[in-house]
Amino acid sequence: MSETVKINFGDKELDCPIVTSTEGGEKAIDISKLRSSTGYITMDPGFSNTGSCKSAITYLDGDKGILRYRGIPIEQLAQQSTFVETSYLLIYGKLPNQKELEDFSEAFNEHSMIHEDMKNFFDSYPSSTHPMASLSAMICSMSAYYPEFVKDDPTKEEIDRIAIQMLSKVRTICAFAYKKSIGEPVVYPRYDLKYVPNFLNMMFSSPTHPYKLVDEVVHAMQVLLILHADHEQNCSTSTVRMVGSSRANLYASISAGICALWGPLHGGANQAVIEMLQEIQKDGGNVEKYIAKAKDKNDNFRLMGFGHRVYKNFDPRAKIIKKCADDLLNKLGINDPLLDLAKRMEAAALKDEYFVERKLYPNVDFYSGIIYRATGIPLNMFPVMFAIGRMPGWIAHWKEMIQDPTTKIARPFQIYTGENKHDYVPIEKRS
Ligand code: CMC
Repeated sequence: MSETVKINFGDKELDCPIVTSTEGGEKAIDISKLRSSTGYITMDPGFSNTGSCKSAITYLDGDKGILRYRGIPIEQLAQQSTFVETSYLLIYGKLPNQKELEDFSEAFNEHSMIHEDMKNFFDSYPSSTHPMASLSAMICSMSAYYPEFVKDDPTKEEIDRIAIQMLSKVRTICAFAYKKSIGEPVVYPRYDLKYVPNFLNMMFSSPTHPYKLVDEVVHAMQVLLILHADHEQNCSTSTVRMVGSSRANLYASISAGICALWGPLHGGANQAVIEMLQEIQKDGGNVEKYIAKAKDKNDNFRLMGFGHRVYKNFDPRAKIIKKCADDLLNKLGINDPLLDLAKRMEAAALKDEYFVERKLYPNVDFYSGIIYRATGIPLNMFPVMFAIGRMPGWIAHWKEMIQDPTTKIARPFQIYTGENKHDYVPIEKRS
């Protein structure tokens, strides 16, 4: 017999089934009959205790620092896979064989260009535009340029095509946005280059200075994209699912996800970390002063790149990224004072009672900016890099959601705290 939890309301009683994860540890109380049976709703600001869906994509255990895509540990993927292969894994639910991977990669080439008219968009944005603003707008605008991909009820084949199109074009859009922002001519994608080298070439090649690909840089970028590829029901992915639950197309849903990611508490944190480190460095590098500020409840300062809703032991992505940053800087012979400062901040925080008590550890964003800096990616493009990485995760969740016949439009309730009923007063009678 399946497990249930009984909820008692006066003389009423409700049996709520227990939903368990395939990993066993996680359990949820299914309260989907609560409102219709009792008239009550639950109150859970920030959804800290709420499961919004069942999902077979990513497993995360925050206490043990475990992260797996489709069952495969993130450490193994970071070491042995590529971003394109990991994207296939997330979207199709299994690792591709040789032929499947070749076909998948080949399809990226087919879809790598963007409609020439889309370039005019970049011309009309001011040069001060944050690239997350233009990225979000461009992704949504793809629905206008590729209307054949916009379907209320897409078939499996149509979903596959739009997924590849989106993954491939996003790197072209991001690189074009960067080139336009620095006033240089755009560099078109090349058929002979793989995903990451192609992106780097579009970002950094110019008619006068062809970009020289460096294996270590390509590898570090590959690792970062894999580590960002999915993270179950985070703020942006939940946004993609929420928007998509109204049957909005993938372009609209992902465009909304990009906006959610932009915030400094989410994907914008990688930019915020470097800005914070630069500020501390400019102020003399006094680590203790800023640790004290982060603890002071009357001060808005937070230690950016620290803390996580789910990880309460360590973030496995941060561990890999820290090592990757060390390796890359050593290989490139770069001595970045911000890396030393970040390490001193981390060491000070990890032995401070405030951070220990609250289980606050470095997250994925704490060291990733150091790598982006070393590769020449400009600061305001850091959240854009997160967005490119998260793309397969967003697509996989949107696909899982629209293919699930039990999906309902996301529509939470509220408890009203406004004025009680009173009459309209014509303007001449108002004081
Ligand atoms: N610096 C100082 N105090 C913090 C920090 C921090 N970075 N993070 C959490 N706290 C404190 C917070 O003030 C609260 O203290 P108290 O119990 O005294 O009120 C306690 O720790 C719990 O924090 P919370 O804000 O209730 O936790 P949350 O789960 O709602 O927020 C978070 C998670 C990531 C938004 C938050 O830790 C944070 O703002 N971190 C800095 C921004 C950041 O690095 N974001 C990137 C997250 S990882 C990338 C991603 O997937 O988005």
